[in-house]
Amino acid sequence: MDAVIDLHAHILPAVDDGPRDLEAAVALVADAHRLGVRTIAATPHVNPTYFTRPETTAARLDELREAVAAAGIEIELLPGAELDFTTLAGLDGAERAAHGLGGNAQLLLVETPFTALPLSFATTLLELRGDGIIPVLAHPERSPGILGDIEQLRAPIESGTVVQVNAGSLLGRFGRRVQQTAHAIVAAELCHLVASDMHNVGDRLNELDRVAEVLGNPTLARWLTFEVPEALLAGSSLSLRPPPGRLELL
Ligand SMILES: [Fe+2]
Repeated sequence: MDAVIDLHAHILPAVDDGPRDLEAAVALVADAHRLGVRTIAATPHVNPTYFTRPETTAARLDELREAVAAAGIEIELLPGAELDFTTLAGLDGAERAAHGLGGNAQLLLVETPFTALPLSFATTLLELRGDGIIPVLAHPERSPGILGDIEQLRAPIESGTVVQVNAGSLLGRFGRRVQQTAHAIVAAELCHLVASDMHNVGDRLNELDRVAEVLGNPTLARWLTFEVPEALLAGSSLSLRPPPGRLELL
């Protein structure tokens, strides 16, 4: 299997609800590396509780890179952020650019609200596209606003938003309803990439190595965990999506 690229991961020490210190952060990265992940974007929360500044991300990322290298782990660690939907509206263009996913100012990881979808949901995503930004919508399968109606993803996708589903959702970590929704999103070809959203070893660890198994489709799993994230980071267009085939009904 190709090197997996994980574009949603809380790996920075002591910035949000991820690892509490450098040692725990290195353990998290080591675990991901053991499972075949070779590139990780560090995506700390930017929300009212954890308002991570880009300078903090850069400083903690430097510390982590140094510690990971000292531990002999060969892995690429990139900057990023997970922007809360409401917080995003209060940031200016320069602030948004500084939070670019993988260091790419044209790519933003936007958290799907854990509430009913705001009326501004589709228009906010469309406005980002108007500014030349590709929104990467994080784990919509966990949002009450999407659970009942995954078709709400279609219009944003048609305007250029890409959708990220959590590996843990596909595996049932967040309950059966989220799991069914995650599989339905993949089956309806509304998912572009799968990421870990890992926070802590032993809690929400990296499960990207199990995507092929849970989907029963290694070709699609490779597209979701390697080809798409690679193309997004490179700023190139996405390769053709392999057909989902007959996904096992849950
Ligand atoms: Fe996250």
